Amino acid sequence: MSASTRKILVTSALPYANGPIHLGHLLEYIQTDIWVRFQKLRGHQCTYVCADDAHGTAIMLRAEKEGITSEQLIERVNSEHQQDFSDFLIRFDNYYSTHSEENRELSEYIYNECLKNGKIAQRSVTQAFDPEKELFLADRFIKGTCPKCKTEDQYGDNCEACGATYSPAELINPKSAISGATPIEKSSTHFFFKLPEFEEFLKTWTRSGTLQPQIANKLSEWLDSGLQEWDISRDAPYFGFEIPNEPGKYFYVWLDAPIGYMASFKNLCLRDPDLNFDDYWHKDSTAELYHFIGKDIINFHALFWPAMLSCAGFRTPTAVNAHGFVTVDGTKMSKSRGTFIMARTYLEHLDPEYLRYYFAAKLTRHVDDLDLNLTDFAQKVNSDVVGKVVNIASRCANFITKNFDGKLSPTTDEEALLNRFIEAGDEIADLYENRDFGKAMRLIMELADTANQYIADKAPWVVAKQEGKEQELWLICSNAINMFRQLVTYLAPVLPGIAEKTEAFLGIQLTWDARTKLLLGNSVNPFTPMMGRVDVKQIEKMVAASASPDAKPAKQEKTSKVTSESNEPIASEIEFDDFAKVDLRIALIKDAQHVEGADKLLQLTLDLGGETRNVFAGIKSAYQPEQLIGKHTVMVANLKSRKMKFGMSEGMVLAAGPGGKDIWILEPHTGAKPGMRVK
Ligand code: MSP
Ligand code: ZN
Repeated sequence: MSASTRKILVTSALPYANGPIHLGHLLEYIQTDIWVRFQKLRGHQCTYVCADDAHGTAIMLRAEKEGITSEQLIERVNSEHQQDFSDFLIRFDNYYSTHSEENRELSEYIYNECLKNGKIAQRSVTQAFDPEKELFLADRFIKGTCPKCKTEDQYGDNCEACGATYSPAELINPKSAISGATPIEKSSTHFFFKLPEFEEFLKTWTRSGTLQPQIANKLSEWLDSGLQEWDISRDAPYFGFEIPNEPGKYFYVWLDAPIGYMASFKNLCLRDPDLNFDDYWHKDSTAELYHFIGKDIINFHALFWPAMLSCAGFRTPTAVNAHGFVTVDGTKMSKSRGTFIMARTYLEHLDPEYLRYYFAAKLTRHVDDLDLNLTDFAQKVNSDVVGKVVNIASRCANFITKNFDGKLSPTTDEEALLNRFIEAGDEIADLYENRDFGKAMRLIMELADTANQYIADKAPWVVAKQEGKEQELWLICSNAINMFRQLVTYLAPVLPGIAEKTEAFLGIQLTWDARTKLLLGNSVNPFTPMMGRVDVKQIEKMVAASASPDAKPAKQEKTSKVTSESNEPIASEIEFDDFAKVDLRIALIKDAQHVEGADKLLQLTLDLGGETRNVFAGIKSAYQPEQLIGKHTVMVANLKSRKMKFGMSEGMVLAAGPGGKDIWILEPHTGAKPGMRVK
């Protein structure tokens, strides 16, 4: 291990063991996995641990409903989760369970240390109790009529109909959601962690660069308004760990859940002689510790957890990295729309690397929500990964195999260009390190554009047909393969499957440092495409398979509005994303002609700055062809070509007006250059 090798321990939040993994979860595990793979690719000692969060009332009740023991349930779900993660190419160094001996010991140890330090309080708490089930009821297990709007069947503490919040005791006609019995009030002794005594410690810790600014600010508000003691116990029956010397009292699931990170690592240390528990958890540890979590569980990770760790004499996290929530097509994932998509359902229809790339392309270091737009998803993956990256190799590899016996040229005539690819790696590495994956993907795709431009300019397929140009062809294709190698190295954390196939194709191992050595004179293997295009039909099938049988039709489209300026109704709303797909460009009208047999159309020849387009425009009533020549206009440059009666139309010109003589072509000012993007 070199001096600059970092020791890094990374975790993702532990998924509950009572349900399957869905695409929302996957954002987190994919984000973490990309970061971990990046660190490993750079040669650091990076360890990624996770586990199922196996305790709590919900799991106990779920097992009961299925007629199995809690242990049986969590075992089954654990293997389902592991299969899902592994199929999404998420590679944990250990995947464990919070229901383990290591976790019991560590939880008891941490609790006992807190007790010794006088940080545990006891007092009596009065709570709703199900007299039939003999179970204390958390708010979400009580249903009743909203005290405000009188809607029936509302959960615990808030009304879905009117949005009112209240205490469960205020519900009219409350019932236990488990047995239907009317809850009674009952008191029992609870144990509390004295969080307020850590206020000063937490004020310092949360402001020491451990948190994203947005989150540090939020926590600041909480810290300023005063902390509450944290209830860490639950009464039997409960599925969890019994509190030492307190029969019938259990640790609340959120006490032992984060300790599950330590326990999973401890379990790994038993197997891996290179890892030592204390190196990572001792209070003077110089190893780095990162937790990746969703924004909904920040208080557990940025308040209770560091306070407990420090109280028990352990180190605290280097940073807690929170991400936002996944929405699908602009709204919360929904069963009725078929957008509550399980990991398994996705895998039955689509390649996991598509989703890894899409999430990467949209991830930032911030806490914003991330929208999975299914149309954009297909387009982005097809245009970037398939169209730009894989394509480079497809266009050049066969020449190497057929014409040059599978050998790359021993020299290059494009040293400067290839060096640019290598040097870009430093900036890309910084972006990965800072979790700015979207920006990293954009930089990589800019390089891919450069590579494709190089190939288009050199046109190896033309050179191949010319006599005596073998040397030139060899250089072009070898240069392109070198660029491809750089690109796949940079994408390897996101697309490990493609990276592996590329390693087999090139006969080398891709690492961040190795990229600086060009492939000269190497033998490569015959090429097979590494990824196919996203098939939109598969997306439709996946959505159909995700729609629950009792699905209600999606909300009706908003009805069209009529504006005072025109008698034509405004078309139904489109999303900003739809609008953003329209590529508007300045075009120079190079030629305009009458179209024989058409009474509204003119045929325009448009210059887009290097590219000419043939467009039919219905503006004959307002313009003579000769008036238009030499004018600039705005055009939709990425409209799919349409076959019209008179020929292909390759785009559309923007014009406005009620019709007849009154149609105006937009005339950009004279600074406009053909091909310029309109913003
Ligand atoms: N068991 C707790 C975590 C304990 S960590 C010591 C838990 N489990 S969970 O299954 O509900 O969520 C696991 C992770 O997935 C959390 O970080 C959560 O924020 C994340 N997500 C769950 N649904 C999500 C989305 N729809 N979008 C993004 N992340 C989401 O919380
Ligand atoms: Zn209400």
